[in-house]
Amino acid sequence: MYAEDVPLAKIAAEAGTPAYVYATATIERHARVFSEAVAPLGEVLVAFAVKANPNAAVLATLARMGLGADVVSGGELARALAAGVPAKHIVFSGVGKTAQEMIQALDAGIGQFNVESEPEAELLSQVCRQRGQTAKIAFRINPDVDAGTHAKISTGKSENKFGIAYDRAAAAYAMARELPGLSATGIAVHIGSQLTDLKPLEAAFGRIGTLIGELRAQGHDIKVADLGGGLGIPYDRTLPTPPTPADYGAMTARVTRDWGTRFIFEPGRLIVGNAGVLLTRVIRIKQGAGNPFVIVDAAMNDLMRPSLYDAWHDIRAVKPRDARMTANVVGPVCESGDTFAMGRDMDAVEAGDLVAFMTAGAYGATMASTYNSRPLTAEVMVSGDRWAVVRQRPTIEALIAADHLPEWF
Ligand code: LLP
Repeated sequence: MYAEDVPLAKIAAEAGTPAYVYATATIERHARVFSEAVAPLGEVLVAFAVKANPNAAVLATLARMGLGADVVSGGELARALAAGVPAKHIVFSGVGKTAQEMIQALDAGIGQFNVESEPEAELLSQVCRQRGQTAKIAFRINPDVDAGTHAKISTGKSENKFGIAYDRAAAAYAMARELPGLSATGIAVHIGSQLTDLKPLEAAFGRIGTLIGELRAQGHDIKVADLGGGLGIPYDRTLPTPPTPADYGAMTARVTRDWGTRFIFEPGRLIVGNAGVLLTRVIRIKQGAGNPFVIVDAAMNDLMRPSLYDAWHDIRAVKPRDARMTANVVGPVCESGDTFAMGRDMDAVEAGDLVAFMTAGAYGATMASTYNSRPLTAEVMVSGDRWAVVRQRPTIEALIAADHLPEWF
C-alpha cells in the first residue's frame, strides 16, 4: 500500500509506528470538489473545521488553497492564524467562549462569531464595548431536527447544548440589536456530523430560510448564512455511499435559492477523513476464546473513534498475503474498550506485519491522548514521492518532564 508515491512500509521503517499518514493530493482534491459543489451558491467561504485535523501542514495546505477556518477555541484560532488563514476568513463557533478568547479573536480581527446563547452575546457585547470594537455575529440556531447520526455527534436536537432554540431566535436578534458592539448580520446552523442522509439537512436549512424571512420582516439585515459542516463520508464500503458533495451542493442551492445571502460552510471530515490512514504494526496474535486477537501497536488513545462511537474503520494489510482471517483487532491499552473491531473479516496478518486503519484523517490524531503513558502518535504528510514528519512523536522523557513534584517532596 502506498500513500501517493511513497510505500507505507518505508514510512513505517523510518518514522516508526503508530503513525498517521496524510496525502496532500487527496486533501486538495476534496477541498476542490467541495468548493466546486457549493460554488453555484454565489459568494461562498469554505471554512475548514479545524477540530477535524489541526496539524499545521494540513491547515497550511488548505490555507494555500484559499480556505478559511472554523475554530472552537483560542488554541484553534492561534493554529489557524499561524498556518496563514487570513483572520477575516475565520469563524469562531462553540458554546463556551471565554472573555479571554473573545479578546484574542477581536484582536486578530476574525470574520464572524457564531454565538450560541444570549449570555454569550451579552458577554461579547461587554468585551466589545470596553474595547470600542464591533463584532460581526451570527446566532447559531438549533432547528430541533434529528440528524440521524450517532447520538454523541448530533447537535441539532432541542435537547442538545448547541445553539439558540428556534422559538427564541427572534427575541435573541431583538436583544442583540439593543446591545452595543454587536452587529448581528448572520445566522448559523450545524446539526451534526457524519450525516449520510440529506433530508435532515434540508429540513434544517428550510427552517433557517423561514427564519431569515421573519427576521428581515422585523428589520434585521441578515447578510450571511453559515450552513455548518456535517456531510458524511464512506467508512464501511459495504454500506450505501453517502450523498456526494455535488448532491449536497445541488440540494443547498435549491433550498437557499431566494435567500440573497452570502454563505459559509464548515466541512471538516469530508476534506481530510479519506486523506489519512493510521499506520500500525501487529505486535502479536493471541488466541482468544473465539476469534484470535490481533494486537497492534496503535490503541484507543491514538484513534478513539471505535471506542467512543463504535465507529467502523476498514482495516487492511499494507502487504496483503492473499489470505483472509476473522479476528478481533485490539490495542495494548488496559481496557476492553481498546478494541478497533470484533469478528472482522480482514486480510490475514502475522506478528510484525503492517496494518492500516483507513479513513483516519479526520478526528484521529486530533482526539489522541497519552493514556497509559503512550506518547502522541507521529504524523506524516506525503506529497507525490516526498514525505515528511509533520509532527514528531514526543519522547517519554518529554512527557515525564512536563510533570513536577510538589516542593514538599
Ligand atoms: N461546524 C461545527 C459547528 C461543528 O461542531 C463541527 C463538528 C463541524 C463544523 C465539522 O463537522 P464535519 O464536517 O467534520 O462533520 N469526533 C467526532 C465528530 C465530532 C464533530 C464535532 N463538530 C467523530 O470522530 O466522529
